[in-house]
Amino acid sequence: MNEARTDPLEALAGLLRRGTPRRFDPARPVDDGLLRRVLAVASLTPSEFDLQPARFVVVREPAERRALRPIAFGNPLPGDAAAVVVVLGYLHPHRTDLDAIVAAARGEGAMTAAREAELRGRVATALGHRGEAELAARAGRAGSMAAAALLLAARAAGLAAAYVDNLDRPALRSRLGIPADHAVCGIVAIGHAAAIEPFAGRLPLAEVCFDGHFGRPWNDAASRAGVPDGSAPSAGLR
Ligand SMILES: Cc1cc2nc3c(=O)[nH]c(=O)nc-3n(C[C@H](O)[C@H](O)[C@H](O)COP(=O)(O)O)c2cc1C
Repeated sequence: MNEARTDPLEALAGLLRRGTPRRFDPARPVDDGLLRRVLAVASLTPSEFDLQPARFVVVREPAERRALRPIAFGNPLPGDAAAVVVVLGYLHPHRTDLDAIVAAARGEGAMTAAREAELRGRVATALGHRGEAELAARAGRAGSMAAAALLLAARAAGLAAAYVDNLDRPALRSRLGIPADHAVCGIVAIGHAAAIEPFAGRLPLAEVCFDGHFGRPWNDAASRAGVPDGSAPSAGLR
């Protein structure tokens, strides 16, 4: 058995290296059941205080998807994808959803009275006095994490997936009825790639990773020497 194939980190690197398709094959659909499973995985994304602010508007209807092309400033990916998922971050889950989230956690055996009191206190301290701009920034970060998970889940399901951020957000809001208390994080277009693209590569770890202090070079040679079997990490982990 090839160990590298079963290494979860290698598998994840493979999904990231698969990359963003330049075009989707518009003739190849994606099964509803598979898309549902992909969304279910993305909905497991963790969030601050487990407030779960990510929301997904799934656009499947071809005419609706095509209408997103001008909204994506001419980008053909949304129109040609089998499904477009608009990822949102809800600004006010601490006001409207906390009771239900606590009750669900209690049902799972994951919430005691003491933990609930602590959680409510921490939520009030961290979010209770925040203005809308700060809440929007937090919702955007949470939703973007869910979008990243969605991208990886789609690829793990054998599909191609593209994150598109360059959007006319006011036009998107108006077309899909997205209310002001939801941040638009981006869209994840999902389908089958028209062609396999070569991976463009990434900056070396030594260039993007600092050692304990910004600007202090990460000791990449030492970290490589620590690889358990003595071999260099594969290209995907470099
Ligand atoms: C947060 C984010 C926003 C992106 N926005 C766009 C976009 O607006 N339009 C687009 O065509 N690609 C977009 N992409 C795709 C990137 O251009 C692509 O991931 C990058 O060039 C690396 O290529 P690869 O994914 O093939 O490795 C985005 C990717 C990310 C992660």
